[in-house]
Amino acid sequence: MINVYQPSLGKEELAALEEVFASNWLGKGKRVAAFEEQFAAHIRSSKELVLSTNCCTEGLFSSMHLLDIAPGDEVVVPTISFIGAGNAVCANGSKLVLCDVDPRTLNARAEDIEKVITPKTKALLLLHYGGVPCEMDDIMDLCNRKGIKVIEDAAAGVSSFYKGKAIGTFGEMGMWSFDAMKILVCGDGAMLHFNSPELRRKADRWLYFGLETKSGYENSVAQKWWEFDISSFGHRAIMNDVTAAMALTQLRKLPAFLVRRAEVHRCYDMNLEQFQWLALPPALPDYVESSYYFYPVQVLDGRRDALARFLRENGIYTTYRYYPLHRVPGYGATGSFPNADYAADHTLNLPIHQSLTDDDLAYIVRKIAEFDALGK
Ligand SMILES: Cc1ncc(COP(=O)(O)O)c(C=O)c1O
Repeated sequence: MINVYQPSLGKEELAALEEVFASNWLGKGKRVAAFEEQFAAHIRSSKELVLSTNCCTEGLFSSMHLLDIAPGDEVVVPTISFIGAGNAVCANGSKLVLCDVDPRTLNARAEDIEKVITPKTKALLLLHYGGVPCEMDDIMDLCNRKGIKVIEDAAAGVSSFYKGKAIGTFGEMGMWSFDAMKILVCGDGAMLHFNSPELRRKADRWLYFGLETKSGYENSVAQKWWEFDISSFGHRAIMNDVTAAMALTQLRKLPAFLVRRAEVHRCYDMNLEQFQWLALPPALPDYVESSYYFYPVQVLDGRRDALARFLRENGIYTTYRYYPLHRVPGYGATGSFPNADYAADHTLNLPIHQSLTDDDLAYIVRKIAEFDALGK
């Protein structure tokens, strides 16, 4: 089976794990600190503004507390979003206000967001679909004018930049995922970015029991190191040296991963252009760098589901991301979202990952050509 997404792990990650075992320290330690520092450099930020956690969903949930979003406050979320975004808002008792998206990029635009803003809008929880940056100049301008806090879900945009600035670093808070299906993987893990060191410090307390200072061996012998101080009550949601060792190794491999993903993207662009019933992903503006996490095609002749089934029967797994939140009754959101409906009914995400071989790609293209012939 050709997977739609797949991690690339090898002997380098195993060697890094062996070192962790030999060190006899599996918890949050120097490897986590090194990963935070190196990831901060990778996104052209500073280590005073980033903090690791155990998963990106934790980041979505924590954003509500960290940015003082209260029950009753309205939070705008593009309806094409990860389910964890809807859950985070609703679990907080806040009002989930959905907005439509661009039908081709599946990213929300400033005009989509503006239509649903009310005096109660406290925050925007924005998804960069497949790691392709949203139009951040327009969106930040709108949110700054209206006093709306911006939370960026850059889960799949591990190396995505808008005019040279990493997505995830525009708003009050941003986040990236390193779960098993992402580009840089470590099993589970995530990085958070904040727009001030104070907010980062608040997050550090919140993600570790609310502790003011860390107790334990590293505390000075001048004090009783088993004592601690708490002034707020927090979670325990941290990375550890096992996952950080893998993440550090993957970060070194990331440039090569991205080169291959860009090649896969180009290969699809060149070979699928011939099919008039397929709309390929829109060309990226020259001021944008993508992580090429998705390759979303749109099937224009109503045969999207038939194509997905045909490919699956031939050992090629495809999928559609993300099922619109307005179609999930549990969220109870209202409104009309014609672009998102169009996207959800026509889009198919083709396999894209750095382990895809040229033979895999040739096979996928050949099967799509066979499907094309069936329709004639
Ligand atoms: C857009 C988006 N946001 C957030 C997440 C959550 O990431 P994690 O699995 O690290 O919790 C995912 C996971 O698939 C995602 O696709």
